[in-house]
Amino acid sequence: MKDSKMIIIGSDHAGYALKEFVKGFLAGLNIPTEDCGTDGEASVDYTDFGAKVAQKVSSGEYARGILICGTGLGMSMTANRFHGVRAALCNDLFSAVMCRRHNDANILVMGGRVIGTGLAAEIVRAWLETPFEGGRHQRRIEKIDSMTKG
Ligand code: RB5
Repeated sequence: MKDSKMIIIGSDHAGYALKEFVKGFLAGLNIPTEDCGTDGEASVDYTDFGAKVAQKVSSGEYARGILICGTGLGMSMTANRFHGVRAALCNDLFSAVMCRRHNDANILVMGGRVIGTGLAAEIVRAWLETPFEGGRHQRRIEKIDSMTKG
């Protein structure tokens, strides 16, 4: 595994601007990022970038990832196909807290056409700082993993 603090991040064109903002926000917190692209606002397929990030979280190379597309929906659908990935679409703060407490979400997904930078920063902060509660929630996330092949 890489530096356990390092976060792998990716977006499509609709999430590109928010991805750049989030990278800067994380740099300000001294959290390094590995950027899988995309590199601009030319149209691309969210699936390609979602898969790059999700594969590296699924393999254990990175503990955590962030994905951003227009709504966050396509990235969530893509990432959750990968074993061991628990990607949570959070366009509100409550979801960001709860996806950590109850779901141990290892990929945060946001919609660049849904939320602004101020809310995104608070969502990222909550997702980084909120611990998993374990207990009965551990059993439940293990059931999720049992549905796909490792
Ligand atoms: C791109 O137009 C848009 O479909 C994509 O960013 C995402 O919102 C898909 O779920």
